[in-house]
Amino acid sequence: MDIIHSVDTMHALALGWRARGKKVGFVPTMGYLHRGHTTLIELMRRRCEILVVSIYVNPLQFAPTEDLTRYPRDPEGDARKCEAAGADILFMPENLYPPDFRTTVNIAHLTTRWEGAARPTHFQGVATVVCRLFGLVQPTVAMFGEKDFQQFTVLKSMARDLAMGIEIVPGPLVRDHDGLALSSRNVYLSPEQRQRALSLHRALFAMRDSPSRSGAERVALGRGMVDCDELDYLQIVDPDTLDPVEVVDRPLRAIATARFGRTRLLDNVALGPA
Ligand code: PAF
Repeated sequence: MDIIHSVDTMHALALGWRARGKKVGFVPTMGYLHRGHTTLIELMRRRCEILVVSIYVNPLQFAPTEDLTRYPRDPEGDARKCEAAGADILFMPENLYPPDFRTTVNIAHLTTRWEGAARPTHFQGVATVVCRLFGLVQPTVAMFGEKDFQQFTVLKSMARDLAMGIEIVPGPLVRDHDGLALSSRNVYLSPEQRQRALSLHRALFAMRDSPSRSGAERVALGRGMVDCDELDYLQIVDPDTLDPVEVVDRPLRAIATARFGRTRLLDNVALGPA
């Protein structure tokens, strides 16, 4: 595995692959990799000829109130994990954006609700960095984990709307032994908060397994089960439009975000008839 820090080197390499018609797979990350990430890398390995993983903690997707410097980092450990999972290139840019970078990418509707309501500038930052990374890496196919379900929907929509010619594929949400969705943020939880955080997936599973066809009944069931400090949202939504849904009669998503202490955790589950 080669580690590349320079954006120019990355771009020149990618243009060469493109000219030779190589199938390039891409897994963008912010590092501090866990089994959720390495699962995506391993799955992508089977779909492409050249596999690029990026690690970049993107300042654009953090609000001034969110502590960018507190985001956990482990570059040496991450490099070992990427190599073991089968990456050919680990792209770890120091300066991703040129000093006079002026462009932002904004996706309407999908980005203003749920996570977007709590973090109004977040998805603009995500879409902008992913767009730049796509330009530099020139992937044929890119994978984003379903743990951040809204992010996956937003990026799929962006790639389609802008005719990027990149296949966007979902990666599975991976859970810990106790069912907690794996997240780099889990390290912030105290043992007591972690115990309470288990109520999040239990509530979502109960909603999934409820026999009721009514979305409202399932949401009320889930809300009653989450033992958090603040429930930001818990809803059943259409997976493409992210609009709330009243009747569970087709494949849908139950999505939730709750705060345990200072840590916000996201989770979701597929529900409805397959
Ligand atoms: O999901 C993440 O880790 C980030 O939002 C992403 C897609 C790498 C963009 O910075």
